[in-house]
Amino acid sequence: MPNKRTIIVTGGAGFIGSHVIRRFVTRYPHYKIINLDALTYAGNLENLRDIENAPNYFFERANILHTEEIQGVFAKYDPDSIIHLAAESHVDRSILSPLDFVYTNIIGTVNLLNVAKHEWLDNLSSKRFYHVSTDEVYGALGETGYFTEKTSYAPNSPYSASKASSDHFVRAYGETYDLPVVITNCSNNYGPNQFPEKLIPLFINNIITKRPLPVYGDGLYTRDWLYVKDHAAAIDHIFHEGKNRETYNIGGNNEWKNIELVKLLCRLMDDKLGNTPGTSEKLITYVKDRPGHDRRYAIDASKVEQELGWKPSISFEEGLAQTVDWYLQNGEWLKNVTTGAYQQYYKGQYSSE
Ligand code: NAD
Ligand code: DAU
Repeated sequence: MPNKRTIIVTGGAGFIGSHVIRRFVTRYPHYKIINLDALTYAGNLENLRDIENAPNYFFERANILHTEEIQGVFAKYDPDSIIHLAAESHVDRSILSPLDFVYTNIIGTVNLLNVAKHEWLDNLSSKRFYHVSTDEVYGALGETGYFTEKTSYAPNSPYSASKASSDHFVRAYGETYDLPVVITNCSNNYGPNQFPEKLIPLFINNIITKRPLPVYGDGLYTRDWLYVKDHAAAIDHIFHEGKNRETYNIGGNNEWKNIELVKLLCRLMDDKLGNTPGTSEKLITYVKDRPGHDRRYAIDASKVEQELGWKPSISFEEGLAQTVDWYLQNGEWLKNVTTGAYQQYYKGQYSSE
């Protein structure tokens, strides 16, 4: 791989994208990093305030559904790589509005693939189209077993079906047009800057504001949690050393049943807020289950560890404590993203709470 790169990161103003951008901008000052983001409800330039003036960082407000906007960014920067994170990312919203997920996640991805194919066709060497995907494409596990790169796709939500479809298109562009693609499928991320619609930041915000903690179903659903900076490190490794047309699973080797995680979070929050032990647990409320709720996810990440030497570096207890500290120290950020449209979404999603 050449020493200098010009990389478009789509969805760079979102949760994971902002950590990827920060890592690449600071570690590779000789690269140009272009953040291409439409700034939907989930995109927030506040996430990048600390690096926005770096000489190798550029922001372009553009929508992956609008071909001419992507072409304009290509014409301006002549990128040799794309790290594609832009997506609709929340399962509950996909149940409310599946078509939004079809447009952004499927059509948006194919649009991006088409522009890259067209612009790079004459010289595909040292190009890279890196597609960031999810373990949810594999469906649900029972009590045992792990998702490997060979597990068949069996998506159960409109979100995971849209991501599965986008993965298939990326793969097909590799096979049909020789586009140098790589795909990664990652487990649940947590950490600073995550929008408070996802379990951990939603519950942190509700503990701060003393609202009920809505646990879906019996609370015994299991997720494999990975600290977002470890995911960004994995993306860095795979971007530089991963093989074209390969898929790599990324996970935390860190399974938690939701209710156990929520109780751990409650204890941590009580400790940090100086509450009497047990205060936050009283907010736990079992609510109607999510339709099509996948029982368990667990990733076998041995391929990326054995082939590329990546593994998670931060323990869950340490990562969760850092996450809680970040939200407590960034009350303004939290307030700004939980006004207006957020309140409307919250009411619709949790009205039976
Ligand atoms: P996010 O919702 O926090 O951010 C998505 C970003 O994409 C936002 O900045 C938004 O403005 C932008 N975006 C949305 N639609 C766009 C469009 N049409 N054009 C341009 N930009 C658009 O998402 P996230 O949680 O950071 O996830 C990033 C990626 O990683 C997604 O592809 C998601 O499927 C995948 N992923 C997420 C997780 C997780 O736990 N969050 C785990 C595995 C994989
Ligand atoms: O596995 C990777 C995926 O992880 C990513 O691809 C998705 O973008 C990301 O949103 C995440 O999906 P989940 O559906 O697993 O995450 P979420 O935080 O929405 O839910 C985690 C678990 O907590 C899940 O079992 C549902 C449950 N839950 C969630 C919410 C929001 C609740 O019990 N109550 C809630 O209010």
